[in-house]
Formats: sequence, structure tokens, C-alpha cells
Amino acid sequence: MSRIVYVNGDYLPEGDAKVSVFDRGFLFADGVYEVTSVLNRKLVDFDGHTARLQRSLDALDIKAPVNRDELLQIHRQLVTRNQIEDGLVYLQITRGPADRDFVYPKDATPSLVIFTQSKPGFADSPQARTGWTIITVEDLRWGRRDIKTTQLLYPSMAKMMAKAAGADDAWLVEQGKITEGTSNNAYIVKNGVIITRELSNDILHGITRAAVLRMAVSAQMRIDERPFTPAEAQAADEAFITSASNFVMPVVEIDGEKIGDGTPGPVARRLREIYIDEGRRTAI
Ligand code: PDD
Repeated sequence: MSRIVYVNGDYLPEGDAKVSVFDRGFLFADGVYEVTSVLNRKLVDFDGHTARLQRSLDALDIKAPVNRDELLQIHRQLVTRNQIEDGLVYLQITRGPADRDFVYPKDATPSLVIFTQSKPGFADSPQARTGWTIITVEDLRWGRRDIKTTQLLYPSMAKMMAKAAGADDAWLVEQGKITEGTSNNAYIVKNGVIITRELSNDILHGITRAAVLRMAVSAQMRIDERPFTPAEAQAADEAFITSASNFVMPVVEIDGEKIGDGTPGPVARRLREIYIDEGRRTAI
């Protein structure tokens, strides 16, 4: 079955889903995106993703082509039409097609593309039982990582470096401190305290991060928002990442060093369970 993709008001078979070669998303990576997970045909943290989308659009002075309710309606249509039980909805808004110029065009119409990926049963991923291995690589991305732009080439290169090293992902390091993962936020746990870098332009303000930290506070866990080094991470009791596509994923090895006993730790396992339960319960 061919997927149905939403493009600027139309629901099209994926082979017919196209945007212009003059789209600034193609020419300049002049666009933003969001990824929302689907569990049991419902959208997890939809309003968090919509709020961050607006923040990214505002930062780039791109006008949202649809409002929150229309966006929800489109997401739901795609989940239904593509029979997504569990999976992901990817949304991209670009500044739209215009004659090539570094100056933003005054009257371009933003492009909106939304598509789905089916991932049956991904909340029960076997990887969550064994955990991820991580390498660290230099963070060579641009300085506005708080804007969720489609310029994802360096994260993709870093992911390839991880794969080449036989690891699952890379954590990015700037001035000796870990910023975040290629496409996730990074955490360690030491003596019961969850340590994760504070929000700034240096990292993406993860929607899963916000929810997981809220849940950790409710579960009486202690949190310290500050940068940490790769050496500190290697000496931690536990490590994990969060993202819409992996929820809470334990990390069991960093640069060849086992974390704790080399198996997923209790804090990461507990937070994963709470987040997925709560995500299912509050999904819309
Ligand atoms: N990535 N940091 C970066 C650099 C990311 O790309 C992501 C998400 C996150 C986690 O954000 P959230 O919890 O809102 O998903 C942190 C998505 C999943 C992706 O690019 O596929």
C-alpha cells in the first residue's frame, strides 16, 4: 500500500507528493520540522510539539500556513488513512518556493508537508531492554540548535560515525561538555541525581525532555540541569536519552566504557515506563 502524504492542502499518494525545486527548504534548508509519536492511533505530546513548532517558525519569521486545530486534523487524517497503529508523524514547514536569493522573499507561500512512518509495537522495542552504545564526537553544528531546522546533515554525519564505530548513536561534545545526541537529549544519573544540560541555544528544547523531567519531579527524583563531560558520563551510574522517536532509551556504553554494570539502569527503566504509560494516557 502506498502511503498518503499531505502536501499544501492535498492528500496524495507518496509518488505524487512533490514540492518545487525552488523551494527554499531544498535550496537553503530554510525550514523547520516536528516529529510526533503515535501510540494506539493517538498523538503523544501533540500540543508540546505544536508550541515548539510555533517557536521555531517565529525565530525564522515564517508564517504558519495552518493553525493548531487544522494541524491536529491533518495529523489525525494521516494516521487514519495510513493505518498507523504505532509510529511517527513528520511535519515540515519551509519558507516556500522563491527565486534563489539569500534575502528572505517577501511574498513566498510556506510549504507544508506531513508524512507518517509506521513502527508497529515500537514502544516495546527490544533495544530498550539492552540499551544503546554511544560514541562522542565533536559538535560542529550551527549555534541556534534551539530552532528545529531541517539542516540535519551534521547530525546525519555523526550518526554515520557512530555506525562506522559499531555504536548506536553519537553524543556531541563542545568545549569539553556534552551538548546532546544526534537527534535526542542526553542524561546521566549519579548518586540518584539526574544530570542533563540546561536549556539554551546550544540544544534542542526536547518535548520529551520537558515531560520526562516533569515526571521525574513528581516521582521525587532529583534533577541537576548543567553540562557534563564525557569522563563524568563514563563514571556515571546510568545514562539515557530522550526523544519523540525513542521515548526514554537507556545508554549502556560510552566510548567503549560500560556505564554502571553495562545494563539499563533503574532510573532510565522507570522513566521509560512512566513516560510511555503517561504518553498513552494523555495522547489525543
Ligand atoms: N529529534 N535534540 C535533537 C538534536 C533532536 O533532533 C531531537 C528530536 C531531540 C529530542 O526532542 P523531542 O523530545 O522533542 O523529540 C533533541 C527528532 C525525533 C528527529 O529528528 O527525528
